[in-house]
Amino acid sequence: MAILVGFTATLLHGGFVTLDGGMAIASYSVMIFMMQRLLWPLTRLGETFDLYQRAMVSTIRVLDLLETEIKVVEGEKELDITKVKGGINFQDVDFAYPEREQVVSGFSLDIKPGTTQAIVGPTGSGKTTVIRLLLRFHDPSSGQISLDGDDIKDLRVKSLRSAISLVTQTITLFPGTVMQNIAYGKKGATEDEIVEAARIAEAHDFVTSLPDGYETQIGEGGHKLSGGQRQRLSIARAVLKDAPILVLDEATSSVDNETEEALQKSLAVISKDRTTIVIAHRLSTIRHSDSIMVLDEGKVVELGSHDELLDNNSQYARLWNVQTGKR
Ligand SMILES: Nc1ncnc2c1ncn2[C@@H]1O[C@H](COP(=O)(O)OP(=O)(O)OP(=O)(O)O)[C@@H](O)[C@H]1O
Ligand SMILES: [Mg+2]
Repeated sequence: MAILVGFTATLLHGGFVTLDGGMAIASYSVMIFMMQRLLWPLTRLGETFDLYQRAMVSTIRVLDLLETEIKVVEGEKELDITKVKGGINFQDVDFAYPEREQVVSGFSLDIKPGTTQAIVGPTGSGKTTVIRLLLRFHDPSSGQISLDGDDIKDLRVKSLRSAISLVTQTITLFPGTVMQNIAYGKKGATEDEIVEAARIAEAHDFVTSLPDGYETQIGEGGHKLSGGQRQRLSIARAVLKDAPILVLDEATSSVDNETEEALQKSLAVISKDRTTIVIAHRLSTIRHSDSIMVLDEGKVVELGSHDELLDNNSQYARLWNVQTGKR
């Protein structure tokens, strides 16, 4: 605006002065020409400034990331995945996210190989955090986590993670077909294996009803999937990966009845003879687990089987009664 006013003023005032004979026409022309050359680029100053600010923000983020210390130190030991039994032990684990209050404190839990352990508790109680510790996205501030007796800090991170399949609703989908997205669970998986995995995960029916079936494009910009559908694809990936340990972390977002039923069916199949940790919000999903733990504010408040927990007037019993409509 200021530039336009400046330009117009020069044009008019200069024009009058020239008409009055105060300035040569040649000088006037040159002046207008120069003005144009000098002022016009300024109109883009705002845009340039905007670009500069965005670039600065990005640069700061990248630099922050580069400066982030690598907190998880690699261990030495490689695991032979075929020999992993899947016994998991948490011993007095404390953990706090950087500059936050403690989220997990004095957490101890022993999971026997091949059993199913459920973890329930209010939102924010630290359930996902426990899983993140097991996968070594963070290390506990004190205490120890071990897998088949080995401190997980002594294992190669890649080795540890390849022994664990993680199923979530927040699964990352890549731009590509459903087939390709499931195949991500295992290198060199055949089409038959993929379809079989989808069947076990109760995903086959919804996939075949998509516009192009297994060839439907999903991921960014592709066909949108619901939370339950994503979860089923995530299970299909896990089935394909066939790791000795399965972790299922259900998001708080409400799960519809159909998804729950599908989930229960596939859980029954894939948790067989495999160490399984299930975090679910609907207690009906986990009632048959070998052991159920109630977590509250990062502490273990109850531990036992469904029947044991129902017997005493526990937090679990109250929750169960609310969810099943009893009082
Ligand atoms: N990356 C993070 N940085 C800082 N604080 C975090 C981070 N992730 C989780 N928290 C905090 O840690 C606490 C436990 O979170 P967590 O995700 O483990 O809960 P949750 O039991 O899995 O909850 P939900 O049932 O909602 O999934 C919460 O108070 C949360 O705000
Ligand atoms: Mg969670």
